[in-house]
Amino acid sequence: MDSSTRVGVVGCGQMGAGITEVCARAGCDVTVFEIDAMTAEAGQQRVEKSLDRGVTAGKVTEEERARASAAIRYTTTLEDLADRELVVEAVIEREQDKLDVFARLDKVVTDHNAILASNTSSIPIMKLAMATSRPERVVGMHFFNPVPVLKLVELVPSLLTSDDTAARVRDFATSALGKTVIRSQDRAGFVVNSLLVPYILSAVRMAESGFASAADIDAGMVLGCAHPMGPLRLADLIGLDTIKAIAAAMYEEFKEPSYAAPPSLQRMVEAGLLGRKSGRGFYHYDPPATA
Ligand code: CAA
Repeated sequence: MDSSTRVGVVGCGQMGAGITEVCARAGCDVTVFEIDAMTAEAGQQRVEKSLDRGVTAGKVTEEERARASAAIRYTTTLEDLADRELVVEAVIEREQDKLDVFARLDKVVTDHNAILASNTSSIPIMKLAMATSRPERVVGMHFFNPVPVLKLVELVPSLLTSDDTAARVRDFATSALGKTVIRSQDRAGFVVNSLLVPYILSAVRMAESGFASAADIDAGMVLGCAHPMGPLRLADLIGLDTIKAIAAAMYEEFKEPSYAAPPSLQRMVEAGLLGRKSGRGFYHYDPPATA
């Protein structure tokens, strides 16, 4: 697979939009599926806004921007992904939703050589693969937010992923997308979230107990450890619902107390305080960020 690969993306939220953008910028023909016209429109705005940002930042030329926009087709019909060679699923981090997507993709994508990848942060790839009739073609391809900026892709083969599938995804991510690939075993959380999520949850517990304020916790890690942003601002960027879902998947797998979502995080999610995307999390955002 290379920059002429026909790519499909399922879901055009924060991550799906980023994946769509980087594939289109690499020259791929991209079809992205969303559940209805309004959500597809919001997804398109996300992609366009980020491309604009790329131009303003001097990372994307006007010509590249126009070419990338023209290479993306938005659809609300999953069957439009029939001819794709690589499909990346990037729907909400809920196991049943992802299982449904994989079962449907298995029926829709006609080429049995095509790869069905998941951008899941934590759900075992083996479970998703078993929803299909082609587990050897199912693999984890985990991007990082913001996708156009962060260089990493985690490659997560399941027990049944073929070597050829893993090699093709590695090659595509490096050669076509310019990403650096690390390989993880198929364990909930993979490499990065196994380290990152307990850190973020510790920061939430610290704020919850009154040990320090959110602003001071974040300043501590930004100024004391040169992290680009503190753990609570990062939680807002990732989405508190996503953090909660990743923590739940990791807790279910390992039963480690450090992976359990603290009560304040649970209450915030129940209250709809999801971070940047909802306009409020540990901080306020005005207007809510769409990219
Ligand atoms: N396209 C291309 N380049 C872009 C861009 C776009 N749309 N938007 C920004 N950039 C470039 C900028 O030009 C800039 O480049 P230089 O460093 O070369 O100048 C760089 O990206 C940073 O952008 P900004 O200056 O606008 O913003 P910033 O310096 O405030 O950084 C940030 C913002 C990139 C989000 C940074 O704070 C950061 O990296 N934070 C940590 C994010 C992180 O840890 N993400 C991982 C989350 S975990 C995850 O995603 C997986 C999961 O499963 C939960």
